[in-house]
Amino acid sequence: MYVLGIDTSTTATKAVLVDEAGAVVGEASAEYGYETPHPLWAEQDAGLWWTATIDAITAVLTHTGISGSQIAAVGLTGQMHGLVLLDDSDAPLRPAILWNDQRTAAECDEMRETIGRQRLIATTGNDALAGFTAPKILWVRNNEPQVFERAHRVLLPKDFVRLRLTGEHAMDRAGGAGTVLFDLAARDWSSEILADLHLDPAWFPPTFEGPEVTGTITAEAASVTGLTEGTPVMAGGGDQAANAVGVGAVREGVAALSLGTSGVVFVSTDAPQIEPGGRLHAFCHAVPDKWHLMGVMLSAAGSLRWFNDALAPDVPVDELVASAQDIPAGSEGLLFLPYLSGERTPHPDPLARGAFVGLTVRHTRAHMVRAVLEGVAFGLRDSLDLIRHAGVAVDQVRASGGGTRSSLWRQILADVLDAEVVTLGTAEGAAYGAAVLSAVGVGWHESVGAATESWVQLKERTDPGPDRGRYAEGHQIYRDLYPALQPTFGSLG
Ligand code: XUL
Repeated sequence: MYVLGIDTSTTATKAVLVDEAGAVVGEASAEYGYETPHPLWAEQDAGLWWTATIDAITAVLTHTGISGSQIAAVGLTGQMHGLVLLDDSDAPLRPAILWNDQRTAAECDEMRETIGRQRLIATTGNDALAGFTAPKILWVRNNEPQVFERAHRVLLPKDFVRLRLTGEHAMDRAGGAGTVLFDLAARDWSSEILADLHLDPAWFPPTFEGPEVTGTITAEAASVTGLTEGTPVMAGGGDQAANAVGVGAVREGVAALSLGTSGVVFVSTDAPQIEPGGRLHAFCHAVPDKWHLMGVMLSAAGSLRWFNDALAPDVPVDELVASAQDIPAGSEGLLFLPYLSGERTPHPDPLARGAFVGLTVRHTRAHMVRAVLEGVAFGLRDSLDLIRHAGVAVDQVRASGGGTRSSLWRQILADVLDAEVVTLGTAEGAAYGAAVLSAVGVGWHESVGAATESWVQLKERTDPGPDRGRYAEGHQIYRDLYPALQPTFGSLG
């Protein structure tokens, strides 16, 4: 038998089939784009996710020759925070407003004023950030009252797919906490916060722990996907929590670091732990009765991609990174701030800007590349520092994502983070984590911890080296730069 993980990401839906030994036997994905109809906006038509889900499931079943009846369970994951507003016949009322949409600064202020910032953080674990779901609901109320009037249900992207697969309105608790309408400690909707914001509790679906069954595949979904009617669909989790499950960051001491377009440092906690300044996200984990803290950098490997595209479009990225190998640690005093898309942690500032600081005529393109790799590592260190200050020890960092293919970047990360950095021998990604959760739900393992102990394999280890002292000094200077560089660009754009 097999389990199937489905990840409704921002750019594609990915389906991953996993066997009873935890090995990936097939994967398929179907891509889509998103719209930015106005500056700061990011929207996606929910119908794209369902079409892509059908395509990805059909493709993975066809390629592997595995039939729907051999699939024991399905687990869901996907982009977090996206607002899907449905009418009373479950049709989307407008395009979904995505996690990377930054239009809601006024509604974040409205939330802080209505609820009180400290009370908001104490209840939900989080400050109101533009990317989260709650301020988007208020934005629709403030700006599209004709849509708001017809609203009947709120779902997240992955849960729209769940609705199409099972006919059920349901949500996982990691995703639920990411709406910032949750009572973090109670792991469910906060009736107080909903009441303060005058939101109807009936709009919000029942929530479930990651391995719990939320429904089964309907006859209609079976007929279009090739799955079998009655197959259980587990809650799964938001993509960061599911990714953390996939790398085994399910107990204290082990951090998951993901180095994709964005960069995330994630730790599991045994109790709801809150960073009093609200600079870290504190959500429920996809592991029952565990929580997590995470710092999110919006432009991590995305910074290197930008540099590559803007300044060296003809050079393959691996060659560009290799050129930085012989540059001394610290890039001879050149520093890079990676705030190319604004920032979340540690500066919740959608208007933050990137910078190279400290240029001299001695600096070459290779210095600039090294400064980018180091600047991203410094930003991730900021998140790790907040996590450590919140009282969570981190002994090992499990790294995944495209950026971790580079041994140079891994060494820089180990030096800057002052922690062992380990890569994974097993499949990466949120879809794999969702498959793990469904395997637990179906009884193949007695707990998520037991599943990851048995399935997740470690590959390469990188220990902090002699450059860490130099980086500690560089990080101090880096930290001073954001507050020092706060210009207003005004009509310059
Ligand atoms: C997490 C977050 C992103 C999205 C992207 O807080 O915003 O990870 O889930 O997929």
